[in-house]
Amino acid sequence: MDGLNSSGGFDASPNNLESFWMPYTWNREFKKNPLLLTAAKDMHYTSLDGRQILDGSAGLWCVNAGHSRERIVKAVQEQVAKLDFAPTFQFGHPLAFELASRLTNMLSGEFDHVFFCNSGSEAADSALKMALAYHRARGQGERTRLIGRERGYHGSGFGGISVGGIVKNRNFFGSLLNGVDHLPHTYSHAEQAYSRGLPEWGAHLAEDLERICALHDPATIAAVIVEPMAGSTGVLPPPKGYLEKLRAICDKHGILLIYDEVITGFGRLGDSFATEYFGVEPDMITCAKGLTNGTIPMGAVICRKGIYETMMDYGEETGATIELFHGYTYSGHPVAAAAALATLEVYREEGLFERARELSPYLENTAHALKGSKHIIDIRNLGLVAAIELEPRPGAPTKRAYDVYRHCFEKGLLIRIAGDTLAVSPPLIVTKEQIDQIFETIKEALEATD
Ligand SMILES: Cc1ncc(COP(=O)(O)O)c(C=O)c1O
Repeated sequence: MDGLNSSGGFDASPNNLESFWMPYTWNREFKKNPLLLTAAKDMHYTSLDGRQILDGSAGLWCVNAGHSRERIVKAVQEQVAKLDFAPTFQFGHPLAFELASRLTNMLSGEFDHVFFCNSGSEAADSALKMALAYHRARGQGERTRLIGRERGYHGSGFGGISVGGIVKNRNFFGSLLNGVDHLPHTYSHAEQAYSRGLPEWGAHLAEDLERICALHDPATIAAVIVEPMAGSTGVLPPPKGYLEKLRAICDKHGILLIYDEVITGFGRLGDSFATEYFGVEPDMITCAKGLTNGTIPMGAVICRKGIYETMMDYGEETGATIELFHGYTYSGHPVAAAAALATLEVYREEGLFERARELSPYLENTAHALKGSKHIIDIRNLGLVAAIELEPRPGAPTKRAYDVYRHCFEKGLLIRIAGDTLAVSPPLIVTKEQIDQIFETIKEALEATD
C-alpha cells in the first residue's frame, strides 16, 4: 500500500507527503522536515517516531478537554452508528435542537437562538450575513457596511478575510467585500509591554468607531465584528474598558456587535464565553473549535433576543416558506451535535471552566517569570492563554519563532506561533507541573536559538 514502510508504518519521505497542499503551512520546508502526529490522549500527542509530545496549544486552540476523551469518543461512535446524517433543511433531528438549547442556557443574557455551521470561518460569514439580513428585514436595508479590526482573524472565507485584519491573509485575494472598514488594533508595545491580564492603556481606541460612523454615516453600518481577545494575531487581550466603549457606540447608532468567540468560547478565559467573562454582551457570538473539543467540525452563531424574531416577523408578513436563505448541508450534523453535547457534559462534570480560572494566575506567573530571557520583548496573558513575543531576527521576520517552535517539538512540546509570537493555550486539564514543563522547554528553546 502507498506510503507504508517495511514495518507497516507511514513512510514520511517527501514523495508520500507531496500531494497534500497543507493549509497555513510552509509546505516546502515541512515536506523536507515533517512533523507528524499519529495519536493523542489527554495532554499528549504521539509523534510518528513514537515520542510523547505535550500539547501546549490544545491542538489549534480547540481541544479544551484534552484528547480522545472517552465520553466524547463513545458519543461519536454511537451516534455515527445510529443516525449518520440527517438533513436540517425543512427536516430536523433531536440532537441539534437539544444542543441549541444547551448553548443558549450557557449564557446569562438574552441569547435565544443558534444557527449551526461547520467551522469558525463559516460562523463568521454566517454572522455577517445574518446581520445584513436582520437589518433588511426590519426596513433598514441601507445598513450594509461591516466593520472589522486591524489584526483581527475571522477565518478564511471571503467575509472573514474582508473584515479580518491580518494583511497576509488578505493581500493575495483581490478586492474582497466592498463596504468594509477597520478599527485600529489595540496593541502598543510602548504602552502595554509585559501587561498582566488586561492592559490599562488603549480603551480610547474603541472611539475610532465614532470616526468611522461619521465618515460613512452610522445608518449605513450593519455590524462591528471583533474577537473579544484577539488570538491568532498573537494574543492581544482587550484594554480595560475597551469592549464597554465599543458596546456603547454600537448601541448609540443601532449597530450590531458580533464577538468572534472561536478561541475564547468554552472556557479559554475561565468562563463559558468571553461574553460572560467580561460582562459586556454582544448581539451575536460566533463559536467553533471547543464546541466539539475539536473532535468533529462544527461552528455556531448564537443570537441575542430579537434577531430571530425579526426574521420570523418578516417571514410572516411576506408569507415566506424560508426566512433566511442561508445554511450548509452539515448545519447541525448529528455526529457533530453528539460530540458537542458530550463535550459540554465533560466541561460541566469536570468543572473545566472553573479549573481554567483557578489555573490562570499560575500560568500568568510562570509565563511572566520568563521576562529577561533571550529574545523576549513582551509577555501577555489572559485566562489560560499566554503569549511570548520575540524580537524578530533582522531581515527574517517569523523565522526565529519558527526555529523555537521546531526546537520545542524536538524537546516534546507543541506550541503555536503567530508571526514572532509564541502562543501557549493548553487543554484546560493541564496540571501545574505541565505548565512548568511548557515554559521550561520554551526557555531552553530560546536559549538554543539564534
Ligand atoms: C477568532 C477566530 N475566528 C475564526 C477562526 C476560523 O475558524 P476555522 O479555522 O474553524 O474556520 C479562527 C481560527 O483560528 C479564530 O481564531
